[in-house]
Amino acid sequence: MGFLSLVLDFAKELGIPIIIFRTSSPRSFWVSYSIPDIIQAGELPINGSEDMDRLITTVPGMETYLRCRDLPTFCRKLDIEDSIMKLVVKQTRKSLQADALILNTAEELDGPILSQIRTKCPRVYAVGPLHAQLNTRLNAKHGESYDHFSNTLWEVDKSCIFWLNKQPNRSVIYVSFGSITSTSREQLVELWYGLLNSKTKFLLVVRPNSVIGKDGEGEDVVMELMEKSKDRSYIVNWAPQEAVLNHPAVGGFFTHNGWNSTLESIVAGVPMICWPYFADQHVNSRVVSEVWKIGLDMKDVCDRKIVEKMVNDVMVDRKEEFAKSAYEMAKVTNQCVNVGGSSYSNLDCLVEDIRIMSLKKLTK
Ligand SMILES: *[C@@H]1O[C@H](CO)[C@@H](O)[C@H](O)[C@H]1NC(C)=O
Ligand SMILES: *[C@@H]1O[C@H](CO)[C@@H](O)[C@H](O)[C@H]1NC(C)=O
Ligand SMILES: *[C@@H]1O[C@H](CO)[C@@H](O)[C@H](O)[C@H]1NC(C)=O
Repeated sequence: MGFLSLVLDFAKELGIPIIIFRTSSPRSFWVSYSIPDIIQAGELPINGSEDMDRLITTVPGMETYLRCRDLPTFCRKLDIEDSIMKLVVKQTRKSLQADALILNTAEELDGPILSQIRTKCPRVYAVGPLHAQLNTRLNAKHGESYDHFSNTLWEVDKSCIFWLNKQPNRSVIYVSFGSITSTSREQLVELWYGLLNSKTKFLLVVRPNSVIGKDGEGEDVVMELMEKSKDRSYIVNWAPQEAVLNHPAVGGFFTHNGWNSTLESIVAGVPMICWPYFADQHVNSRVVSEVWKIGLDMKDVCDRKIVEKMVNDVMVDRKEEFAKSAYEMAKVTNQCVNVGGSSYSNLDCLVEDIRIMSLKKLTK
């Protein structure tokens, strides 16, 4: 829990070893850590009138692809004294004073950035993707058919699986913007027209009350769109995401790039269209498109023509290219969480190290 730095002070005082678990992506963690250096170099603040595609060159390991627009959204404030920014930077810097850091990633996914982080905190355990590691360990214990797709904040509507069962392989794009983001009415309408014009079938998640509009206006839009695209789509309040992403009918994921969703898509080998909303999502979507090349980044755009083009690129015109890179990435990542893989071994190692730490404490 990276935001409880008070705990660090207490633990240090009492001589208790402390290991911090950060749930956001390592690259966004590293960007947040580097913000004082970015400011020092004069690359922040962003002045209101400038080109958001300007490269930020002062985050070690990310010099070639990180642009102004890819920074965490609080960096868009023209004010470098912004309180959220200051808080995030302070907590991030502080968390590296811990004895060790646990990150939800794998060496093979974020290696170059992990080595940067290790220059500040030498003991970093990359044990992710955690959901996949959990699956490996549960399968070993209970057998392959064990049903554990239940890790969610909302009640899932499993009926979409029956709809997916009737669709050809890799023909459906799954559209979901996670458990907390909301969409404006305008965004939903542009998205929906883009999807409809692309002629690809889609499974759309619209959480109740997640569309911002006046007095239930948002909900009316959802009903209207649902009716108009009945033969081309299926709409649910919430989907069993891991099962959906692993369904053969799903060929793409339209996502906000929350770190969990990004990892779930990687593990399932599903290419992404990225429409980041806030927090670490702007960094993640840049990495998905520019570093891993397993998707397209639509950040800062809300236009049905662009939606249509990107859906067609990922699902039709450049389908093979994206499917291949996503497949390769999934293969490597799944090896990490299997017996003998880096994340699997790192977790064993972490458990062993905790055991040793507690023994030392006892013999003191
Ligand atoms: C803002 O940035 C633009 C482009 O880099 C530059 O031309 C302009 O002078 C800057 N304005 C201020 C007020 O710094
Ligand atoms: C993200 O994944 C972790 C590990 O699988 C899980 O414990 C957590 O609840 C997930 N968070 C959200 C917001 O779904
Ligand atoms: C669809 O995918 C499934 C699972 O990967 C596979 O077993 C099946 O042969 C595929 N069907 C076609 C028509 O390619």
